[in-house]
Amino acid sequence: MEARAPVRTFFIYTMGCQMNAYDSDFMAQALMERGLEPVESPEIADIILVNTCTVREKPSQKAFSYLGRMSRIKRRRKGRVILGVTGCLAQEKPDELRRRFPSVDLIAGPREVGRISHLLDRVEPGTRCVVATDPSGEPPAAPADGSHFKGRVTASVSIMEGCNNYCTYCIVPYVRGREMSRPPADIIREVENLIRAGIKDITLLGQNVNSYTSHREGDVDLRFPDLLNEIATLPGLLRLRFTTSHPKDLSEGLIECFEALHVLAPHIHLPFQAGSDSVLRRMGRGYTRGRYMQLVEGLRRARPEIAVTSDVMVGFPGETPEDFAMTMDLVERVRFDGLFSFKYSDRDGTPAARMAGKVSEEEKSRRLAELQSFQKEVTRAVNQSLVGRKLEVLVEGPGKRAGQYTGRTGSNKVVNFAAGSTKPGSLVKVIIRRAHVNSLLGEPVVS
Ligand code: 5AD
Ligand code: SF4
Repeated sequence: MEARAPVRTFFIYTMGCQMNAYDSDFMAQALMERGLEPVESPEIADIILVNTCTVREKPSQKAFSYLGRMSRIKRRRKGRVILGVTGCLAQEKPDELRRRFPSVDLIAGPREVGRISHLLDRVEPGTRCVVATDPSGEPPAAPADGSHFKGRVTASVSIMEGCNNYCTYCIVPYVRGREMSRPPADIIREVENLIRAGIKDITLLGQNVNSYTSHREGDVDLRFPDLLNEIATLPGLLRLRFTTSHPKDLSEGLIECFEALHVLAPHIHLPFQAGSDSVLRRMGRGYTRGRYMQLVEGLRRARPEIAVTSDVMVGFPGETPEDFAMTMDLVERVRFDGLFSFKYSDRDGTPAARMAGKVSEEEKSRRLAELQSFQKEVTRAVNQSLVGRKLEVLVEGPGKRAGQYTGRTGSNKVVNFAAGSTKPGSLVKVIIRRAHVNSLLGEPVVS
């Protein structure tokens, strides 16, 4: 890049899950280490990176349309911008991206993020597009000093890349590659760096953290609960979280962690995807609805205040009204604290895309609306049950309203409250006064 000065600023647009957010943080840190400065808008950036998602039809369409906007910005600025596409759509459709957006300079998949700086060096605007989509690359290593995280209270640490589950609807194993667990020493070092940079609440990330395994020569393998136990001993950390868990691999040992480890926040995101055993079987999920509900029971026994959130989709191929009724039934029985629900969409190359019995868009929309309106009332009721309770809130920063601070409970609920003398990074006791669907309103307890 040096020969083509001045390249001084960059802008990264992030779509998708926390894995992508983590990768964007890594890329930002890597560019800052080279003296580049982040800016707030793509209009004034010398490098624009679009970190894409392709898990469902909707995010991938959003990525295409955002790239259309970025290409127009590049044209308006007479090409004096380096435009890169990173992430899962870059891995899935490099050829289509090149064809539809000829001005793109770089296409890099998620397993190439660790080499972003080096890849940008190879870019020569106006010539060919640099394409890097090695699916077996190493996950990005720790951001060196955590300076990118200054002023923040929460951060994530990737503990593994990829996924070996091959659920029949899912594109992730194809775009993020095979499962690879990072060595525990690297993870611990990264966590320590973040704690030193002032981070108090850390989320361990992976497509399926429950299958984390690090092989130790001549010794028993280190598994996910062992890793949690090790991290729990680090001083200075107030809350430890993890996502995402696969029910099939959720072990007794992990449930015990919720009982034994105070630092482990009382929240688990445990996608169930469907409430009917026949749909679960065709999804290749490896558990039944009965087993799923048992796991939730076990978790609630170990940590009564645990919040359980989940992902579910409607309209998987062959999903009958009776199957959908089983999903509604599971949602009614479990009473999730929060639920992300989606319409099934075909992803090229996955087994489900070739399955018969496709459900119409209309029917999918109808099922989704029914599910979402029911869940909204559950979330509201769960939140309402917290009114009058005194909860510990980790302060994250100023809220949207003047004079308010915002933070989260251990169970991951957003609480807004009058600022008082608290500061970001501290724990305050807050009495909950009002409940909304997406947040709680409280008053700090003066002791
Ligand atoms: N169609 C709809 N939803 C999907 N998800 C994953 N693949 C698909 C698909 N093909 C949902 C799952 C997953 C979440 C991240 O996205 O619920 O947990
Ligand atoms: Fe989207 Fe999945 Fe990639 Fe995350 S891993 S960005 S959800 S496709």
